[in-house]
Amino acid sequence: MKVVPSRRVQSIGAYAFAEVDREVARLRERGVEPIDFGVGDPATPTPDIIVRAVEEAVVRRAAAGYPRYTGAPEFRRAAVRWFEKRFGVKLDPEKEITSTIGSKEAVFNFPEGFIDPGDCVIIPTPGYPPYTRGTIFAEGVPYHVPLLEENGFLPDLDAIPVEVCERAKLMWINYPNSPTGTVAPPEFFKRVVEFGRKHSIIIVSDEAYTEIYYGEKPHSILEFAREGVVVVQSLSKRSAMTCYRVGFVCGDERILDIFKKVKTNIDSGTATFIQDAAIAALGDESHVERMRREYHTKRDIMVDAFKAAGLEDCTPEAAIYIWQKCPPGITSLDFARALLADDVAVVTTPGAWISDRTADGLNPGEGYVRLALVPTIEETKKAAERIRTLRISRLGT
Ligand SMILES: Cc1ncc(COP(=O)(O)O)c(C=O)c1O
Repeated sequence: MKVVPSRRVQSIGAYAFAEVDREVARLRERGVEPIDFGVGDPATPTPDIIVRAVEEAVVRRAAAGYPRYTGAPEFRRAAVRWFEKRFGVKLDPEKEITSTIGSKEAVFNFPEGFIDPGDCVIIPTPGYPPYTRGTIFAEGVPYHVPLLEENGFLPDLDAIPVEVCERAKLMWINYPNSPTGTVAPPEFFKRVVEFGRKHSIIIVSDEAYTEIYYGEKPHSILEFAREGVVVVQSLSKRSAMTCYRVGFVCGDERILDIFKKVKTNIDSGTATFIQDAAIAALGDESHVERMRREYHTKRDIMVDAFKAAGLEDCTPEAAIYIWQKCPPGITSLDFARALLADDVAVVTTPGAWISDRTADGLNPGEGYVRLALVPTIEETKKAAERIRTLRISRLGT
């Protein structure tokens, strides 16, 4: 019997990090231990208050019945309380919020509720890959808008062709932005809301990084509108809970109704004891402050090192990444390879690999490497020492 993957699965490219994985394995064989800024998974242990809450909840909830698809009422109430405290936006815990299994499942499955074959989804690039993959699996057509330095890494809404606006049902935005570290100003959120209303496009705002910031607190789009708008939130980065898989989607009740119908048919909700841990996490800000300080320290160490090596200052305002410009004339892949040399051994992700080409053939990630600030402070200092000694001229500028 021949086993044939669907066209959707076939359309997914090879694992982009395979080459980096091979290089890392070669370094290890030669006895060099690389410092890994590649994948954005925090190595910070999940805070004690959360671990204790889950331990206690597993024992207390003796019956292991199915969780509610849309989250336990106490989780939804805790999330709503947190959202109001943080953003000043009051939500109805019954109608305007649902729990999700981390935010990835929400991002990937969301288009199922709204996209018919051929409908467009406007997606920023570089951007989180499930925006595109979820669109393709729902038989939609991704339209990639580039995030460019000259536009402050915000999508240029005026440059989106009218035909695309007419065919589009959804638009993804993501601020604080992964990977550029940009925080969007209130005017941008207002303009996007206006754009969505004008063209009847639902705006989905991925706000997974609102709690990791280095200056002013980032805004939520729900501070500016609710009609036609939903937010995707996650505990993963805020509370170092990537393994726990818990987040929520909130906003326009009509959109939530449709998304909840999709979810009810796809999954069976986040485990209740994990929701209990999330309630404990949402009730505590001190661990988030500690985490922010740690990321801030690591950001400063790495930014200073790149500047000392003669590279452009690419200080991010938020999120856990540095979107570092390569030396002029060097591709993102060549720069990532140079950083993997034995005497540097710093793992980064070439920007070109995490960006989609736009309709005019541009790859906006070319010319950048991404560093996820996930190693420890000690490892970060070690990496910075090695980067300071980088001889940019040796790289062929
Ligand atoms: C922009 C963005 N959104 C969402 C996610 C998903 O996170 P999770 O599924 O852990 O909530 C990530 C993960 O790295 C991300 O970078």
